[in-house]
Amino acid sequence: MNVEEVKRLKGVRKITVLTAYDYQTAKIIDDMGIDMILVGDSLGMVVLGYHDTKKVTMMDMIRHTQAVARGVKSAIVIGDLPIHSFDTVEDALANSKRLVEAGAHAVKLEGNKPEIIRAIIEAGIPVQGHLGLLPQTAKSMKVRGKRSRDAEQILADAKVLDSLGVFSLVLECIPLDLARRITGAVATSTIGIGAGVHCDGQVLVMNDMLGMDDGYCPRHANAYLDLNNLIGKAVKSYIEDVKTGRFPEDRHSFH
Ligand code: KIV
Repeated sequence: MNVEEVKRLKGVRKITVLTAYDYQTAKIIDDMGIDMILVGDSLGMVVLGYHDTKKVTMMDMIRHTQAVARGVKSAIVIGDLPIHSFDTVEDALANSKRLVEAGAHAVKLEGNKPEIIRAIIEAGIPVQGHLGLLPQTAKSMKVRGKRSRDAEQILADAKVLDSLGVFSLVLECIPLDLARRITGAVATSTIGIGAGVHCDGQVLVMNDMLGMDDGYCPRHANAYLDLNNLIGKAVKSYIEDVKTGRFPEDRHSFH
């Protein structure tokens, strides 16, 4: 998989994307044939336990991008530029290069930032755009683009990003009809999260699709597993086994 292939897949078949933050998970989903792995700044919530993505640093992103890249053979690894890491063109370029050195094949950044995006692409680093709900700057996590003026703005932004040459475009939490219009209006591949079925591909936060958050699953996601419950059961068994002396057995011991 490479960025040219992602562009070519538009209208051919749906593109699959998941987030990952660590070596083992990245290896599993790469082995299963996922097209792209996003080392998202959502790691601030699901790995680091913050309330939102606003405290995530470049050091966090570099460490987790390195871990993911070690586990990946085929998928495109995308490193997310965290808040304030692309405030100026100089910062954006330096930090994009750091993510590439960490093993990313491309970077993602939130919002319509033409000057920044152009500079990164001209430096030879593929960029994934991100429009709709932008968690780094959002004051609320509501769906964006419901009012027609907002919808037209997001569509116009998408056209700008497309003309700059982003290799794909994440559309987060927008009405499916707007996502359909954007997907039809741009040459790049749209990747939806809470943006409905008409996008060229879908991305989910790995922890959401594994059901890791104690019964909570955001409306846009689908929990394919109740991993929270499964881990809880396994840990309970382990605690009981240790307390009752059932673990370790002789086969776990060295003579
Ligand atoms: O950080 C992230 O995981 C993301 C996805 C929700 C697209 O930006």
